[in-house]
Amino acid sequence: MTTLITGGARGLGRALVENLSAAGEPVIATHRGAVPEALASGARWLKADMTDAASLAALGPSLGETAVDTLICNAGLLKDRHQDIDSGYPPELWAEMFAVNVTGVFLTVQALLPALRRAKGAKIAIISSQMGSSTRASGGSLIYRASKAAAVNLGRNLAVELKGQGISVGIYHPGWVQTDMGGPSAAITPAQSAAGLIERIHTLGPATTGCFETWDGTPFPF
Ligand SMILES: NC(=O)c1ccc[n+]([C@@H]2O[C@H](COP(=O)([O-])OP(=O)(O)OC[C@H]3O[C@@H](n4cnc5c(N)ncnc54)[C@H](OP(=O)(O)O)[C@@H]3O)[C@@H](O)[C@H]2O)c1
Repeated sequence: MTTLITGGARGLGRALVENLSAAGEPVIATHRGAVPEALASGARWLKADMTDAASLAALGPSLGETAVDTLICNAGLLKDRHQDIDSGYPPELWAEMFAVNVTGVFLTVQALLPALRRAKGAKIAIISSQMGSSTRASGGSLIYRASKAAAVNLGRNLAVELKGQGISVGIYHPGWVQTDMGGPSAAITPAQSAAGLIERIHTLGPATTGCFETWDGTPFPF
């Protein structure tokens, strides 16, 4: 069962690559910069920048006739911590973060659709965040929250559009994870989050498509 993971060279994406390749699963991962040596042989690596539509469109053709059973849209960007509501949140930051967290997710799904259709009962996992919940809005990081809410909405609508094609879509909060984004005081390790998410994705199917869950299987309010 082939899995393609975006942003696989570091953080949670790296832990997902490590988990699946240790289990002997075929993994394709995307990266922008150098791939750490320890990861190089565990996966097939493709260059892709979420802000570069051409690099995402090229993913489809570079896969040839490969079927992709699971696409994990993991790459994400949080750059608006500590912005001031009166003078901060510049438009360029909105554009950049929406490009990575929303548009990049859609363009990746679009580029991968032929490869997902070649698999039987393919799955798409969108790594959003609890900060994308509109029910649990608590202010701060307004761009990140809005973009992750848009990712939840995108996942919900993709689930409806793709259900008839046998493709299921799950949306996940990975936990507060010890990565560059989550910081060293975060609650769980990338390995714990990756293991939980992979379990969640195993249970994803037509009956649960459109779900929004945490890494440990707790349903999350939209
Ligand atoms: N850590 C947490 O506590 C937490 C909580 C909730 C949700 N999340 C979500 O979980 C996912 C993984 O986060 P993380 O904690 O692993 O973050 P991270 O340590 O900051 O890693 C971010 C990943 O996204 C990739 N990325 C960023 N901008 C990109 C771009 N323009 N094109 C391609 N790839 C890009 C990075 O690739 P480069 O190495 O090339 O920069 C890296 O692989 C994200 O979607 C994040 O929003 C994380």
